[in-house]
Amino acid sequence: MNRSEVLERFNPQKDNLLGILHGLQNGNPNNYLTESDLKAVAEYLNITFSHVFGVVTYYTMFSLKQRGKYIIRICNSPVCNMKRSLSLADEIRDLLGIGVGETTGDMLFTLEYTECLGRCDVAPSIMVAEDVYGNVTRKSLASIIKKYK
Ligand code: FES
Repeated sequence: MNRSEVLERFNPQKDNLLGILHGLQNGNPNNYLTESDLKAVAEYLNITFSHVFGVVTYYTMFSLKQRGKYIIRICNSPVCNMKRSLSLADEIRDLLGIGVGETTGDMLFTLEYTECLGRCDVAPSIMVAEDVYGNVTRKSLASIIKKYK
């Protein structure tokens, strides 16, 4: 879906800013928003570029730099941290050779931290693309990642 098609799905109301930004980012194969996207959104919603830029830089789910096709998000909130989720970053470094904030050379995966994924009951949790996984162990992590290769 190109930019015009994404915009046309939404009425030009400020309330739709987040939905439009998500739509544009999801439609980009590199999971990011371009400066041109931000300008188009500002014009479409009749708001300033700095307003759009402020929203994009406030929310960690948006990115202004190219990322992998799949974003791996490790929950970095208290319950998952207590269940040693931070070590998952080391496991992913071993599996994919990337650290937090980095992207694999084939542009397939980017690793990020995120806040609570709402699955504290099965901590530690991670999210890959739109899928959330719980009770993640070293072994299950390898098979989860394999699904996206
Ligand atoms: S603290 Fe990790 S899913 Fe809630």
